[in-house]
Amino acid sequence: MADVVLGIETSCDETSAALLVSDRPGRAPELASLVILSQDVHRVFGGVVPELASRAHLAALPAIVQRALAEAGLGWSAVDAVAVTQGPGLVGALLVGVVYAKALAYAGDRALIGVHHMEGHLFAPAVEHPDLAPPFVALLVSGGHTLLLDVPAWGSYRLLGSTRDDAAGEAFDKVATLLGLGYPGGPEIERLAATGDPARFTFPRPMLDDGLEFSFSGLKTAVLYAVRASADLNRDRPHIARAFQDAVLDVLVTKLERAVRATGRHTAVLGGGVACSRTLTGRAAERLAGLARVVVASPRLNADNAAMIARAGWHRLALGERSDWTIDARADLPLPGLDPVVIPPSTIRNPQ
Ligand code: KG4
Ligand code: ZN
Repeated sequence: MADVVLGIETSCDETSAALLVSDRPGRAPELASLVILSQDVHRVFGGVVPELASRAHLAALPAIVQRALAEAGLGWSAVDAVAVTQGPGLVGALLVGVVYAKALAYAGDRALIGVHHMEGHLFAPAVEHPDLAPPFVALLVSGGHTLLLDVPAWGSYRLLGSTRDDAAGEAFDKVATLLGLGYPGGPEIERLAATGDPARFTFPRPMLDDGLEFSFSGLKTAVLYAVRASADLNRDRPHIARAFQDAVLDVLVTKLERAVRATGRHTAVLGGGVACSRTLTGRAAERLAGLARVVVASPRLNADNAAMIARAGWHRLALGERSDWTIDARADLPLPGLDPVVIPPSTIRNPQ
């Protein structure tokens, strides 16, 4: 019997459903369909309004699931299991997906698996690169998280570093607001930075020489001061965007390189919405040339989507894991299998 997993993602402002299909047991699944509805309603507010997101998910989700089934050429009866984002995220938004998935699976007597959103981001490259397998180092950069992980095996995550304040994507979004750009800010800053002069402004690289932790809130404040001091923001905007992006990417790529050297891994995985940045993936590939292979999914799979949720769920279902009918949406869901590790600073600072 073919294995068919329906993925559902509603943790923030994308309503998404996807189908993964494997034609032979034990064979890596292929993406049969992926539908993503980006909620436009938040644009005028310059950020996601949680209550509006929940309502929009509720209105759209049934049609999005039907569309994903139709695009895959499958009926509901072909679906073996439902994988849904359980957390972290906006609790009301998550709840819509979890309740819908639970009802579908319960009524149809199908397996249900709750998935951690960041584990979904980690699995995204595996949708397009079926040969991707641990061990590797992963840098997951989204609007809510900045995680540097050592991954000795799927499901086993050693925390090398995370952010002490803002996430990388959050910094892009906040700086975009300071510059008067739209939401989400990352793509707007990347576009504008392409025309900016890297030498006009210089911003601090927070914690650059210091271990594997991140901090972005001071950098955001430095941009605020530059914006306030600017006599002509229209003239300076691309240059500020460029200098800010250079600072963030320099920090991300430097820590990634340090983690690769400290762990001795030969593969580095980039994931999360910020990994949609071609500038980031290009610089990571340059910096790690000769040291590690950089694996990254295409932008559609790095932004929030249900294919990555189905893929992570697939992995856990194949291990025999199931969620029971009591699972609930959790805004603060901990990453399963996360083990904080302390790598001796000498190893980190003085790589061999
Ligand atoms: O993973 P994601 O789609 O949603 C969350 O789980 O948060 O990440 C969204 C974040 C936003 O902060 C957005 O500005 C950022 O990813 N982002 C980018 C780019 N595209 C999206 N940041 C920098 N450069 C980009 N090209
Ligand atoms: Zn995400």
